[in-house]
Amino acid sequence: MPKILISDAMDNIASEILSNNGLEVDTKTNLQPDELKKIILNYDGLIVRSATKVTKDIINLTSNLQIIGRAGAGVDNIDIEAAKNKNIVVMNTPGGNTNATAEHTVGLIFALIRKIPLANDTTHRGLWEKKKMKGSELKGKKIGIFGFGNVGKRVAEISSALGMSVSIYSSHFNSVKNNYKNYISSDLDNIIKNSDIISLHCKPNQDNSSIITMNEIKLMKKNCILINTARGNLINENDLKNALENELIQGAALDVFSNEPAIESPLFNLKNIILTPHIAASTDEAQIVVAEMIANQFCDYFNKNNIINSIT
Ligand code: MLT
Repeated sequence: MPKILISDAMDNIASEILSNNGLEVDTKTNLQPDELKKIILNYDGLIVRSATKVTKDIINLTSNLQIIGRAGAGVDNIDIEAAKNKNIVVMNTPGGNTNATAEHTVGLIFALIRKIPLANDTTHRGLWEKKKMKGSELKGKKIGIFGFGNVGKRVAEISSALGMSVSIYSSHFNSVKNNYKNYISSDLDNIIKNSDIISLHCKPNQDNSSIITMNEIKLMKKNCILINTARGNLINENDLKNALENELIQGAALDVFSNEPAIESPLFNLKNIILTPHIAASTDEAQIVVAEMIANQFCDYFNKNNIINSIT
């Protein structure tokens, strides 16, 4: 009977589905790398979220491992090349947490432009700072969306429903833009210079360098707000710190950091920034969907020899 290790916290539905379909499951979370190295030999399949770092060292120690599943979209915690070299399939669950991530993105935009965290904090302290809390509205604003994958597409849809003008910067968008006549296809320069809100839903540059550095920030409108719910390395955090300290842009909201968990960050305690601990996909609904998807994909793999959502 194939043995599966679930090494990150996820909805119990994953282990139920796996067991009900004849797979043996162990759930062991918060393992240190050395602990994982000691036990990985025993397993045919490994399911992770983002906490477990499936490094080359760990992959090279495996002998039975056939498949690594990511309950989520990003696979940057898995060494894909090392997995490929050992013929290990890596799969994810695209779409499973799209809506959760898009809603968190829009929530951050609202929180920032209506100063909700600050208003909450000062009201709790009895300060009644009504005059300082004037915000602005989303209707009529220009949002620039970087990337037109599942999340970028959903953010565009919600933004459009809220009355914003939507521009997209994405090479993929150019091939499908006839289906999205409400959205403007934009180049990098224009989207940076003209957006009131910039929201990142793309990958970093090919050399892994940040898309948003001081060079780009200097071109943004002074009242622009920058949102990142994708990956921390899309923005140069020191440049963003400088920009916020010097009020080059109005504000930023980030759910992701270049180093996670973010115990320290140059961005801590700046005003005009809202930070959340990579929770965009953490909703009851999304976590059930991604757990179900990855478990069903594993059952298909082991019981029907069917590979779904492989990225290797
Ligand atoms: C993802 O890649 O699916 C998201 O970042 C969500 C997550 O891992 O928590």
